[in-house]
Amino acid sequence: MLLQDKTVIVTGGNSGIGAAIALAAGQEGANVVIDYVARPDATEELDERITKAGSEAIGVEADVSKVADLQKLIDAAVKEYGRVDVMVNNAGIETRTSVLDSTEADYDKVMAVNLKSAFFGTQLAAKQFIAQGGGGVVVNISSVHEDWPMPGNAPYCVSKGGMRMLTRNAGVELGPKGIRVIGIGPGAVDTPINSSTSADPEKLAALNAAIPLGRMAEPDEIAGAVVFLASDKGAYLTSTTVFIDGGIMMGSVGL
Ligand SMILES: NC(=O)c1ccc[n+]([C@@H]2O[C@H](COP(=O)([O-])OP(=O)(O)OC[C@H]3O[C@@H](n4cnc5c(N)ncnc54)[C@H](O)[C@@H]3O)[C@@H](O)[C@H]2O)c1
Repeated sequence: MLLQDKTVIVTGGNSGIGAAIALAAGQEGANVVIDYVARPDATEELDERITKAGSEAIGVEADVSKVADLQKLIDAAVKEYGRVDVMVNNAGIETRTSVLDSTEADYDKVMAVNLKSAFFGTQLAAKQFIAQGGGGVVVNISSVHEDWPMPGNAPYCVSKGGMRMLTRNAGVELGPKGIRVIGIGPGAVDTPINSSTSADPEKLAALNAAIPLGRMAEPDEIAGAVVFLASDKGAYLTSTTVFIDGGIMMGSVGL
């Protein structure tokens, strides 16, 4: 098992990509801390699925835009399982607002949930890793939009661009302590964040046509790579982003 007896924290862990990562980590032997802010029923259901897979899980309600709540997650993991081995900064939101239309509130919210949370999630996990004697992995769930503009979703793209540099900088700073920092850049994934696209046949057809593999990813197609790369199989990977996008960033308009 890839993550046997490791403790994995997943922020925004009870839906979409986070839930798939939590389940995949549990299926690979990890104890899982599921962070959530909504739908405690979904957290309980996921906890049961992880327990059925033979691992342990706890749900912790924590708003990751607050540093004190991030510390609550680390403390819960240490209290329950004695340590933290993998911190997955997954929680994310978007406003679908442009440079011209975004309000101060749009900007602040997206930056707090997507970037501030990952910055301090990385910092607090790294402090815990060092206190335990070194090692450990941070996984930042970024996006193709850390590199690739998305007109009409400006704060989101800015937050993911910041996450790219967080992964690079933290990876370089923490590498000598044996801590790896990985970015994962999904393309379009069929999760609640994309429900407006999935529900609109025209938008969905246009999106699928732009993806060389012809479809959105399922959340577990992202989770499998996360678990593999966070395990010792990914031991030489740090400070960079791995894109899992069905080829969309390399796509051509076919002129
Ligand atoms: N779905 C995609 O196409 C796609 C593509 C690239 C990147 N991503 C990234 O993947 C991550 C997960 O998104 P998803 O697609 O699974 O959508 P999702 O909406 O299912 O997941 C986002 C999660 O973050 C949680 N969250 C929001 N605010 C929070 C807060 N303050 N504290 C704690 N949790 C909070 C939500 O409750 C939810 O569980 C996000 O960072 C997103 O940017 C998604």
